[in-house]
Amino acid sequence: MNPVLEAIQKRRSVRSYEDKPVPKEILNSIIEAANQAPSAMNSQPWRFVVVEDPAVKKKLLGAAMPHAKKILESVKDSDPERYAQIMKRYNELPDPIYYSAPSVLFVIGSGRYADHSCPLACGNAMLAAYSLGIGSCWVGFGSMVTDEPEVIRALGLGKDEKIYGPIILGYPKVFPDPPPKKAPSVKWI
Ligand SMILES: Cc1cc2nc3c(=O)[nH]c(=O)nc-3n(C[C@H](O)[C@H](O)[C@H](O)COP(=O)(O)O)c2cc1C
Repeated sequence: MNPVLEAIQKRRSVRSYEDKPVPKEILNSIIEAANQAPSAMNSQPWRFVVVEDPAVKKKLLGAAMPHAKKILESVKDSDPERYAQIMKRYNELPDPIYYSAPSVLFVIGSGRYADHSCPLACGNAMLAAYSLGIGSCWVGFGSMVTDEPEVIRALGLGKDEKIYGPIILGYPKVFPDPPPKKAPSVKWI
């Protein structure tokens, strides 16, 4: 199969990682792939922060948890099945936000083009990671840390900057089965 299509088909969100660092050359290749993403006006409105320091990761986790729990409460009634599935993780895992992944890639963007362009960089990073044998997952709950001064300092977040992803990266311990995907809704005109 065409290797690009194969990566698109086979990439999955990985939520269980080996306790083994990802080599810097591999992380750099993933970041380079992210940086090659299309962006409005070729603005490349992103920068990257890789967090590996356990102390910083602990702060990130502590900052994200209350927000994640609040959001989860709001899906309790609308999607009880998903709520139960996610709560199971919260009860079982020491880190249900970043899944104890060795590296967390923050894609940090600013300006009028960031909302459309930065997610493409995230997508490139996840596909590149898959192609290099690295598991990944966009963990939106991990972006909800922007009210915590220590985290703002650690990431060097400016007032106009937003977090996209973050994308966790590591060697998969468990590579999940594909979840059900709807067939595309397509209209030909
Ligand atoms: C914007 C966005 C936010 C996400 N946030 C989370 C998250 O906080 N935690 C998580 O475990 N997965 C998160 N995911 C991963 C999705 O749950 C996952 O992509 C989806 O279930 C489909 O599975 P697949 O990626 O294996 O195809 C997020 C994905 C996206 C695109």
